[in-house]
Amino acid sequence: MPATAETPKSTDTGDSAALALRVATREAHQNAERTPPMQALSEGQLDRAGYHALLRAQWPIFLHFEQAARRWLDDDVPAAGWHYRSRLPALAADLGDRPDMAPLVPRLPTHDADACWGMLYVVEGSTLGARLLSRQLAALLGGHSDDFRFYTLGEDEPARWPAFRRVLDAQLTAPQQRARAIEGAHAMFAAFHYQFRHWQAHG
Ligand code: HEM
Repeated sequence: MPATAETPKSTDTGDSAALALRVATREAHQNAERTPPMQALSEGQLDRAGYHALLRAQWPIFLHFEQAARRWLDDDVPAAGWHYRSRLPALAADLGDRPDMAPLVPRLPTHDADACWGMLYVVEGSTLGARLLSRQLAALLGGHSDDFRFYTLGEDEPARWPAFRRVLDAQLTAPQQRARAIEGAHAMFAAFHYQFRHWQAHG
């Protein structure tokens, strides 16, 4: 977990917004790992129904984020040198359908561009960590890599991650911007926590 290896113990994050985000959300990340579906996966208790419920729980987060931040994702993000890949096609392919939009609580602060960078940090970071989860899923559930499109999006993430961190550092130069990005990251983690707390193994 990023929360342990390579994570500085101090809160001195120097000039790096990416490092500031990692340090500020260390506890939120640990809490995300302790949510029921993540625990079930780590403990080898996740079956195919639980896996589908895990995907379904994330659908409203990405649907809401990608719709509400559409203009920012389409215009500002490429202008900053990053290309966001929609997670919805991979989720829909793994689920075999497009779920109905479930209400998402809490809401995401997508009206603020700096907060959006913090939300995107959580999304891209979770894809980075998903490389580990995809191996656990394959071992648990068997099947082909085509069954795990969402969780294998991170396969090329190690190469992309340093570039994304550089974009964050370039975009979030002022302390106030970093503070808003950290708020956005916490809001995104809260959305995952909320959805994962309501995850039903056979829902
Ligand atoms: C059992 C559950 C999880 C495990 C085992 C896990 C594992 C990992 C690992 C190993 C990394 C570092 C990858 C690398 O540096 O190559 C990572 C990074 C990250 N993960 Fe997770 N993850 C889990 C759940 C989540 C969830 C649910 C979220 C968000 C909703 C998340 C967000 C992040 C973020 C933002 C980073 C980037 C941290 C940084 O370096 O700044 N993770 N995760």
